[in-house]
Amino acid sequence: MKYASEDLRNEHEGVLFGLGILEKMVNTVKQSGTVDTKDIDDMVNFLRLFADKCHHGKEENLMFPAMEMVGIPNKGGPIGQMLIEHNQGRQYIAEMGASISSGILHVDRFTEAATGYINLMRAHIEKENTVLFPMGDKMLPMNEQEHLMNQFEEFEEEVMGKGTHEKLHETLHRFEKKYLKTRE
Ligand SMILES: [Fe+2]
Ligand SMILES: [Fe+2]
Repeated sequence: MKYASEDLRNEHEGVLFGLGILEKMVNTVKQSGTVDTKDIDDMVNFLRLFADKCHHGKEENLMFPAMEMVGIPNKGGPIGQMLIEHNQGRQYIAEMGASISSGILHVDRFTEAATGYINLMRAHIEKENTVLFPMGDKMLPMNEQEHLMNQFEEFEEEVMGKGTHEKLHETLHRFEKKYLKTRE
């Protein structure tokens, strides 16, 4: 890897993959009126841990501060906008989680929050990939890129632990088989 943003771009692919499955879940709910609530729980857990805690954690605690240091604006600028969107994402995830109570799914509450989240995150990732990260690639010196990559690794171990990553992968794989391969 040359740029620290490459690690974050790879994670974007993982998040987008999860969003594709979430979209199928929404369609399943709309068509049949229900979906396995355990699957929604697992999806919310994936988004909370991987998309928010790990990925947004790396951006907010490491990447964005480094970008600010080299002059990319936060408040009123691209970083500030990304932070606003992370918070909106958190609200959608909380809302999805709250759409299940005592094992019962509140269909509209779930589909509205999930659709809002999918649209928000797809646009958000597009902005980071095409606007913010190219700025960082250009402005952050190579020694800082390397430093960030090391920090990302440490951060990941710290907040996720190796076992968690594997478990989330398994969950996605199970979803892939259930929602992407058999329900076309
Ligand atoms: Fe972000
Ligand atoms: Fe991101």
